[in-house]
Amino acid sequence: MTIYIMASPLAIAKGFLFLAACVAASYLYPPKPADLTTPVQQRIAIHGPNDVSIGWNTYKQLSQPCVQYGTSDDALLSQACSSSSVTYPTSRTWSNSVTLKELKPATTYYYKIVSTNSSVDHFMSPRTAGDTTPFAMDVVVDLGVYGRDGYTTDKRDTIPTIQPALNHSTIGRLADTVDDYEFVIHPERFYDQLAPIAGRKPYMASPGNHEAACGIEHHLKGLCPLGQTNFTDFMNRFGTTMPTAFTSSSSNATAKVNAATAQKLANPPFWYSFEYGMAHIVMFDTETDFPKAPEGIGSSTGVNEGPFGTPNQQLDFLEADLASVDRTVTPWLIVAGHRPWYTTGGGVVCHPCQEAFEPLFYKYDVDLAIFGHVHNSQRFMPVNNGVADPAGMNDPKAPMYIVAGGAGNIEGLALVGKNVSYNAFAYGDDFSFAKVSFKDKSHLQVDFIRSRTGKVLDTSVLYKSHAQHFASLDGKPAPLDSKPASSSTRLRPTLTIAILSLAIMSQW
Ligand SMILES: *[C@@H]1O[C@H](CO)[C@@H](O)[C@H](O)[C@H]1NC(C)=O
Ligand SMILES: *[C@@H]1O[C@H](CO)[C@@H](O)[C@H](O)[C@H]1NC(C)=O
Ligand SMILES: *[C@@H]1O[C@H](CO)[C@@H](O)[C@H](O)[C@H]1NC(C)=O
Ligand SMILES: *[C@@H]1O[C@H](CO)[C@@H](O)[C@H](O)[C@H]1NC(C)=O
Ligand SMILES: *[C@@H]1O[C@H](CO)[C@@H](O)[C@H](O)[C@H]1NC(C)=O
Repeated sequence: MTIYIMASPLAIAKGFLFLAACVAASYLYPPKPADLTTPVQQRIAIHGPNDVSIGWNTYKQLSQPCVQYGTSDDALLSQACSSSSVTYPTSRTWSNSVTLKELKPATTYYYKIVSTNSSVDHFMSPRTAGDTTPFAMDVVVDLGVYGRDGYTTDKRDTIPTIQPALNHSTIGRLADTVDDYEFVIHPERFYDQLAPIAGRKPYMASPGNHEAACGIEHHLKGLCPLGQTNFTDFMNRFGTTMPTAFTSSSSNATAKVNAATAQKLANPPFWYSFEYGMAHIVMFDTETDFPKAPEGIGSSTGVNEGPFGTPNQQLDFLEADLASVDRTVTPWLIVAGHRPWYTTGGGVVCHPCQEAFEPLFYKYDVDLAIFGHVHNSQRFMPVNNGVADPAGMNDPKAPMYIVAGGAGNIEGLALVGKNVSYNAFAYGDDFSFAKVSFKDKSHLQVDFIRSRTGKVLDTSVLYKSHAQHFASLDGKPAPLDSKPASSSTRLRPTLTIAILSLAIMSQW
């Protein structure tokens, strides 16, 4: 299908010139800081009900990564340390992490990564599950560029950086509105330009297709260097900073058992969950570890990555985790993964994902399902198995679906494609992202925001009564049709986005 790049012809030409230059000369890395203990690529994450992890990279291995912290910026009286300083072949940096435990909830903490060249930053500790204070979170998917130190290999860095197109409008907008939201979930890639935000707001990451390898075409030809396959960077960067699943704060014994099972089966940073105020949020992996997973062993893409768990571990985790959610504690149940199965076009409809995950999300009354992969913004009415819920936004049983993939990817934006009857909004003219506001236990607002201007492009409010403490499991979920309504015949073919990216890469 047609896609367009958010770059002027001149910018593209410059990209190719840059590329040509790379054939002759190896990429000029940015200089390492003279002080090799200087922290870079800082990111914090919710790690437990009262725990926050601090992750950062350095240009040397640290024997003992440490963070000083406290509730006043001139009295960092506590210190936490770890021995976690890891790297992989072809990386120039080490990923370090430390977890700060038993923090007071919803409290401003100041912290300083211990280094001879670091400064004090601050964050707000997580809200306790069940805290009914309204809050918002941003959702940015497919935000990223190749190059510079985002990925630290010579192969990676010969990809044109296309600096003129590197309009970090989404990052700029997140920075401008840093007081409007409390954390960011980002089911795709990380790069260091985000550090000023991710070092202050918990940044919850889950894998997308680009985290798998240095590029599908390269990988298939055996051209990806050691360390640039099998989600290696992603695991090094986020493996110790993402949570597993929280211990249940429900009074229901079955819920406690289910939550404990989920905790055992969780496999961060691939699949895990956390709770924050009124929300229980599940991050899942659409790339590997379920039948016919697009990048799993025997996958359609031929990438053959993973598995990261035992057979069925991810689906068993989801079953236990979703079953554990007590709506009297966390009324809102949100799931987030990379590849969608509802989309107006411009991307691959992930049928194996739909088969694996949709029945579970329906069975356990998920309220909102968040995806990316298709580089634009889309909102769908609550829908299950291709059939719109007749209740619409007024207390539906089926989950509401959004695609928030327009945050800014090197591959450019995707056209919105063909409308489907249950689509309510689609926008692909400029970079955009979603903001999810948890207003109270029955009202959730989703806004799509144009990154460059801050204009609200679409607003919707989902009403859920959340009358039941637990999902009602009487009545099995409807079996999937052999031909779901969002079948490829009704949607544009989508592989072109990836091919364009690889076309640029293959120039060198
Ligand atoms: C970057 O932003 C500037 C100013 O908003 C705009 O003129 C330019 O077209 C943008 N470039 C790309 C590649 O989006
Ligand atoms: C100290 O850190 C800053 C960035 O935080 C960096 O620009 C500077 O080069 C570092 N100084 C040394 C001596 O490494
Ligand atoms: C406890 O939770 C289970 C589901 O996990 C539910 O079936 C059961 O009805 C709950 N018990 C009470 C007393 O709410
Ligand atoms: C990918 O990494 C996981 C975890 O280390 C390992 O179990 C699996 O075998 C690896 N897969 C491949 C294809 O290398
Ligand atoms: C898609 O069609 C529906 C029903 O006709 C309409 O309400 C909606 O606005 C359309 N969405 C887009 C993005 O055009």
